[in-house]
Amino acid sequence: MSDPETVEVVAERVARASRVAVLTGAGVSAESGMATFREPQHGLWSKYDPMELAHIDAFRRDPELVSRWYHWRFSQAAECAPNPGHRALADLERVLTGRGCDFVLATQNIDGLHQQAGSERVLELHGTFLTWRCTETAERVPLDRVDFSSFPVRSASGSLMRPDVVWFGEQLPADVLRRAEEAVRSCDVFMTVGTSGVVWPAAGFCELAASAGAATVEINPEETPVSGAAQFAIRGTSARVLPMLLERIVSMDS
Ligand code: OAD
Repeated sequence: MSDPETVEVVAERVARASRVAVLTGAGVSAESGMATFREPQHGLWSKYDPMELAHIDAFRRDPELVSRWYHWRFSQAAECAPNPGHRALADLERVLTGRGCDFVLATQNIDGLHQQAGSERVLELHGTFLTWRCTETAERVPLDRVDFSSFPVRSASGSLMRPDVVWFGEQLPADVLRRAEEAVRSCDVFMTVGTSGVVWPAAGFCELAASAGAATVEINPEETPVSGAAQFAIRGTSARVLPMLLERIVSMDS
């Protein structure tokens, strides 16, 4: 099938669905100017070692380095705005929930761009860098109340603060993961968008949805390890494909 034909078939499936689940990764924010992780040349992990920057042991070893890195990444994200792919997902949520369809967006992204675009039903699997957390009391503090005048970052009472993200070597928040897996297991249509599909547990979602009988869709310019579990593949960027898909769904009766 050509891409336009696949878009048409997928739009029909989504328009008829009672439950839709979407998983997103760094590719969705690429067209906003956020770097992805694993792409050769531009990916963050082609320049930096994740075990030195995104592992709980790295933070224990060198909290200053890790905190500075997350602060730098947030400063870059602050210059980025949601792109047409983020906005199409937010509109899709409004359209589908308005028709009585259950809709869940699980994201591995920590940049908050889905919410900025208007998405409300967002499950942040890897946390967010828009809040920091006290390592002693677990209190969450929004960025504008975090004191970044020195690193590592400290709370008013002197405790060590950390970004509110999930690092390698840590468990995903149990409740968020449970809700995401439930949505994936019970949906009629599952879409995996802009993720390389190598980081677990999200890497297993497409297979989980397929084995539960959902129509599975991959939107990504490249093939990935989960492509085999995707019934439909649309090989384009999310900022191009998602608005096309939305436009077709909106034009169809539920
Ligand atoms: P990756 O960098 O591993 O994968 C990004 C994917 O997006 C690739 O498959 C690209 O082909 C695709 N892509 C690039 N540009 C795109 C575009 N404009 N539209 C659609 N797709 C595009 O990022 P993730 O899969 O999100 O975790 O990585 C998963 C996790 O690994 C991250 O959450 C992060 C990282 O290490 C932690 O740091 C814990």
